[in-house]
Amino acid sequence: MNTLNTTVTSEADVPEEKAIPVQDERPAETVIEEGKTVGTPFADDPKFKLRNVEVFYGEDRAIKNISLDIARNEVIAFIGPSGCGKSTFLRCLNRMNDSIDICRVKGSLQLDEQDIYDSKRDVVELRARVGMVFQKPNPFPKSIYDNVAYGPRIHGLANRKSDLDDIVENSLRKAGLWNEVKDRLDATATGMSGGQQQRLCIARAIAVSPEVVLMDEPCSALDPIATAKVEELIAELSESYTIVIVTHSMQQAARVSHRTAYFHLGHLVEVNETDKVFTSPEHELTESYITGRFG
Ligand SMILES: Nc1ncnc2c1ncn2[C@@H]1O[C@H](COP(=O)(O)OP(=O)(O)OP(=O)(O)O)[C@@H](O)[C@H]1O
Ligand SMILES: [Mg+2]
Repeated sequence: MNTLNTTVTSEADVPEEKAIPVQDERPAETVIEEGKTVGTPFADDPKFKLRNVEVFYGEDRAIKNISLDIARNEVIAFIGPSGCGKSTFLRCLNRMNDSIDICRVKGSLQLDEQDIYDSKRDVVELRARVGMVFQKPNPFPKSIYDNVAYGPRIHGLANRKSDLDDIVENSLRKAGLWNEVKDRLDATATGMSGGQQQRLCIARAIAVSPEVVLMDEPCSALDPIATAKVEELIAELSESYTIVIVTHSMQQAARVSHRTAYFHLGHLVEVNETDKVFTSPEHELTESYITGRFG
């Protein structure tokens, strides 16, 4: 394991004689030990077992030797400053990075002890098991009904029209959208408001009963009422599913997650029980972030 001394404060880049006085108690220089995550990054019976993961965009290493377990039925929140690698790491979990030409993933990534990156793996099946909700809603240019029915149809989950109707209704109910759209299921999805589109995408993701749902800032386009509905849904889903949520809202992380993982410049600095991260973080970088000193 390499050790990398990373200077993370801009003050340290300024020549000494010109150094700007530091206003807060931020340490002048903080060392991140590569591959060393403080706290509790490992679990007894993990859904995901991720070891020494590195992600490159061309020559640039965006994820630096991260090892983490994600437990079954846990909600884990990924937090950290913009550009620290949260989305990149999340996308490794269902091979969404495959679609980015210059992106290469290294290390060992297992779902239920099976290699996610095995060349023989069926990626369509993987993404049915590990669904994803993106920051920007991306409904298909189809009807509301057909958006939700899309996955169940291609995976053959319903034999009769009435079964498909039930899946569509249940998924829309869980996403808190049913009452708003039940009378216009044939309307095109792209005509909905941004917040409705996002809840539709959540309904579409859960319609195939995935084992894991990856959510990349799912509430950033939602109002507080829709946000509360999504958070309720997360709590409900976590009874049977595993959920990984990237969020810039620390209140949201505190409300919905069991564990929180703090990323910084491509490193995984700390993973701990969410209460601990927000009340007594172990790493000084985590503390600086949650107290708003940077990020
Ligand atoms: N498609 C891409 N091509 C090249 N570089 C990329 C690409 N996507 C991300 N990166 C780089 O990888 C690093 C991590 O980006 P990433 O989007 O994972 O960060 P993030 O933590 O999700 O940030 P944010 O909170 O702003 O969404 C950044 O330096 C970014 O510029
Ligand atoms: Mg992101």
